[in-house]
Amino acid sequence: MQLKDTVALVTGGTAGLGLATARRLVAAGARVLVMGRSEATGRAAADGLGPLAAFVAGDVTEDEAVGRVLDAAGEMGELRTVVCCAGTTYSKQILGRRVMRADEFEAVIRTNLFGTFNVIRQAVPRMAAQPLVEEDRGVVITTSSIAAWDGQNGQCAYAASKAAIAGMTLPLARELAPHAIRVVDIAPGLFDTRLTSAVPDGVLEHLRGQVPHPKRFGSGDEFAALAEHVIGNSMLNGETVRLDAGLRMAPL
Ligand SMILES: NC(=O)c1ccc[n+]([C@@H]2O[C@H](COP(=O)([O-])OP(=O)(O)OC[C@H]3O[C@@H](n4cnc5c(N)ncnc54)[C@H](OP(=O)(O)O)[C@@H]3O)[C@@H](O)[C@H]2O)c1
Repeated sequence: MQLKDTVALVTGGTAGLGLATARRLVAAGARVLVMGRSEATGRAAADGLGPLAAFVAGDVTEDEAVGRVLDAAGEMGELRTVVCCAGTTYSKQILGRRVMRADEFEAVIRTNLFGTFNVIRQAVPRMAAQPLVEEDRGVVITTSSIAAWDGQNGQCAYAASKAAIAGMTLPLARELAPHAIRVVDIAPGLFDTRLTSAVPDGVLEHLRGQVPHPKRFGSGDEFAALAEHVIGNSMLNGETVRLDAGLRMAPL
């Protein structure tokens, strides 16, 4: 699907993988709305992206906020791309001194899983109303994680949320196929962002040592390049693509 002169919504587009994706989509000629909760971070991100970009603050778990963001995207033109990057990480075990409380588990699931679903469920009726261009009406990209399969000790909430995102890819793609909307999930390995900077250094070094090749963290632009390819390649649908330099995380 061509990006030029279309509108893309990037949730979590104010930092990290989402911001790098927004940058790529703008460079390809799309008008891009980035969404995040922090006004200051969002405004700075949109300013850096230039005149084709806009920012609207909102939390992906809140219905009204998502509706407001989608209304703003609609005012920018034809919404054809939704990239769901908004997400959080949180690690705690279920036995021991600092155990994960039920509300903490629910909060991770709510942001990562329900937040992703909440954006998609409100966006697709709008995308389905667009005229067909070439083969597609639109593309939805979700962001899971290799933790969906290789989750570490303490990652049960995060890994569960990401496995569920990967799991909803095929049913959504099947449901949206008659509307010519594709759904593709990207499962990143280790990328240099604010999210990974919160992980203790020792753990990061241990994980970096496990990456087969290239032996480094990925950059946001490498994630963004795959997102751009997914949008352009109509044969990609109903699939999770691991982007991980061959990493299969062993237990810590
Ligand atoms: N970095 C990695 O190595 C890695 C690996 C695997 C998967 N992932 C996944 O990739 C996605 C992006 O991660 P990242 O590394 O780019 O993280 P990041 O740098 O922390 O960026 C997260 C983005 O999501 C936004 N966000 C968080 N919670 C939100 C909410 N409830 N509503 C709206 N926006 C929200 C943040 O803005 P505000 O804080 O202002 O809301 C920010 O724009 C996440 O889903 C993460 O799980 C990352």
